[in-house]
Amino acid sequence: MGLDEAVRKPHERLAEAVAEDMGRVNALIAARMASEHAPRIPEVTRHLVEAGGKRLRPMLTLAAARMLGYAGEDHVRLAATVEFIHTATLLHDDVVDESRQRRGRPTANLLWDNKSSVLVGDYLFARAFQLMVETGSVRVLGILSNASATIAEGEVLQLTAAQNLKTDEAVYLQVVRGKTAALFAAATEVGGVIAAAPEAQIRALHTYGDALGVAFQIVDDLLDYAGDMTATGKNVGDDFRERKLTLPVIKAVAAANAEERGFWVRVIEKGDQRDGDLETALRLLARHGCLEATREEALGWAGRAKDALSALPDHPIRGLLGDLADYVVARIS
Ligand code: IPE
Ligand code: IPE
Ligand code: MG
Ligand code: MG
Repeated sequence: MGLDEAVRKPHERLAEAVAEDMGRVNALIAARMASEHAPRIPEVTRHLVEAGGKRLRPMLTLAAARMLGYAGEDHVRLAATVEFIHTATLLHDDVVDESRQRRGRPTANLLWDNKSSVLVGDYLFARAFQLMVETGSVRVLGILSNASATIAEGEVLQLTAAQNLKTDEAVYLQVVRGKTAALFAAATEVGGVIAAAPEAQIRALHTYGDALGVAFQIVDDLLDYAGDMTATGKNVGDDFRERKLTLPVIKAVAAANAEERGFWVRVIEKGDQRDGDLETALRLLARHGCLEATREEALGWAGRAKDALSALPDHPIRGLLGDLADYVVARIS
């Protein structure tokens, strides 16, 4: 391994391994986000798409297909489909969360309005479905349409679990598996399906994507308290303001004394938040070691993701997928 390779982040090395394919994915996204009749659509999508994003999910689809020897064109369509679904959920998510920053830019709901975000999100969902139909694989259609339903289910479950201090780690895990891991799992799985891989390998890809997605979201929730806005491109404290019971808070509530519990009841259940409350929350998370404990859980899921890789063929991309699992826990953006 040269020095260059040692300092480059794993997702950048994986990105490099699939760079040519990703170029085609990006071209396809640019071509399909257009609309002849409604100029608001390309305005909003360009704002979000040109801001970049890590492109992790399409990377997973391309990597899985290539690792398993796929030589056709459908992996590019599927990778673009997955990124379209992701982009649509981000537009909707920022409306629901009333977020103001995404990918280092003001959110579309802030720059335009909620109506534009919801409707352009719907359009992108529909475009995603058009793209996947072009592959002609009914199995792939099943996987990606199931994942889309599961994502929406996860977001709605989160909505009803927010503000409720009784939300426990089991419900949290169910939310995370739905809203985030489902798309990671589908992204890797369809790469294997399109490559006509053996069933055991397709299952391993699903398990890898699911565990990677859980680890990824746990860290996202950690970064919502402990992250740096210039690195994440999102506002710190969004989850606190939205009164979400994410893993760090669930752990702090479980460890709280009577006085601390009073604080959580006021800010999360009653929604009576005042200046300095986020700082107090951070102090309580630190006091009970909740951030470290949360990272430990993410590490456990990353380990499960790596374990699943043993069922896949020995290939340079398999090594990069293992490194990606480490990166997901260590990342700061
Ligand atoms: C953001 O996903 C939504 C979550 C599941 C936390 P990413 O962090 O992958 O978003 P981009 O595409 O890189 O902006
Ligand atoms: C992301 O959940 C899940 C989806 C976009 C479906 P979050 O609400 O935690 O994601 P961020 O933090 O806004 O990116
Ligand atoms: Mg959000
Ligand atoms: Mg978040």
